[in-house]
Amino acid sequence: KKVVLAYSGGLDTSAIVPWLKENYNCEVVAFAADVGQGDEELEGLHEKAIASGASECHIVDLKQEFVQDFIFPTIKTGAVYEGEYLLGTSMARPVIAKAQVEVARKVGADALCHGCTGKGNDQVRFEGAFAALAPELTVIAPWREWDMVSREDLLDYLAERNIPTTASATKIYSRDANAWHISHEGGELEDPWCEPTKGVWTLTTDPMDAPDTPAKINLTFKEGELTHVNGQALSAYDALVELNNLAAPHGVGRIDIVENRLVGMKSRGCYETPGGTVLMKAYKALETLVLDKSALKFREQLGLEFSHVMYDGRWFTALNDSLLAAANSFAQLVTGEIVVKVYKGTATVIQRQSPNSLYSEDFATFGADDVYDQSHAEGFIRLFSLSSRIKAMHDADKK
Ligand code: ARG
Ligand code: SIN
Repeated sequence: KKVVLAYSGGLDTSAIVPWLKENYNCEVVAFAADVGQGDEELEGLHEKAIASGASECHIVDLKQEFVQDFIFPTIKTGAVYEGEYLLGTSMARPVIAKAQVEVARKVGADALCHGCTGKGNDQVRFEGAFAALAPELTVIAPWREWDMVSREDLLDYLAERNIPTTASATKIYSRDANAWHISHEGGELEDPWCEPTKGVWTLTTDPMDAPDTPAKINLTFKEGELTHVNGQALSAYDALVELNNLAAPHGVGRIDIVENRLVGMKSRGCYETPGGTVLMKAYKALETLVLDKSALKFREQLGLEFSHVMYDGRWFTALNDSLLAAANSFAQLVTGEIVVKVYKGTATVIQRQSPNSLYSEDFATFGADDVYDQSHAEGFIRLFSLSSRIKAMHDADKK
């Protein structure tokens, strides 16, 4: 038997390797995805996996695919979960799960394993993807099976087997990082009345310590794709990295929220999405120029619907495909240039232009113009409010 484990090199997945071998009498192939989480997490991963007892370790570079095929399509839908969360962890799950299945096929594995807890969203996202892509493969979720509950338990488990680890008994936060964001949960954050301490944040500068001079970031879009940052042509991934580098020192993109998990409980999390926050604001600002009232209203509904599709791990579904197709159709209009000012934790759109802009100074002006005859408004309002007029007359008759 052969199992492909989504491996991170952290304490949990390090313990899962020997646990799988003992409990399933199988060969364990470690699989790690590079989704832009940074070199510290990936360094020495191969050696670590082998030292824990894995027979092979596959590290797959998904950075470009993640940004191009998962983040950008999601931006085009306008999805923001529960009004705040930019879905950083959620978006990474389908691309990771898909690559994991590919490794499983390549090595001829019969099972897939992940280190998600039984209380969270991630288990649903991984297994939702596995179900759609590889229904024939068995899924193993150790956290739902074993009786270990703490980091001490896991450390003892490894020590008993002489498996080296650099993990410590005290790790306060559960974090998840990729090119788009980093999430922080656990520790004092579990008390929603507790303000996050300085040690929570790892990516962005505290807005209080951010520079006194704002920076302006210029973003160029063509048919919904970000093509240039400050005039420089960049790939999707490099553009996101650049936006992070520009926005993080200004403390942009921190949120502190309580959210509804799919499995029913509420959780409190802090998130840092510096470049993504700038990108989302810029994209939406460009939409305000090119989409008319009814199109924008529908795009907003699309974003709301898609936020749940993405959060709930329903990427590989017909609904997902249809919503993405609609978003992509709107995106064909999203061409132009936006300037965002970043300053002490804020990101504000200050300039916008588009060849597809429906905005016209000639029409919007309060001065004289020759395209809009104010007297036409009277008939419009008369008909627009006709049902109110009829009702009021009706009510008056009844008295
Ligand atoms: N609550 C967020 C989400 O569900 C972040 C989850 C972080 N995951 C993790 N394994 N630390 O998308
Ligand atoms: C986990 O439970 O593995 C992390 C949190 C989540 O998935 O919501």
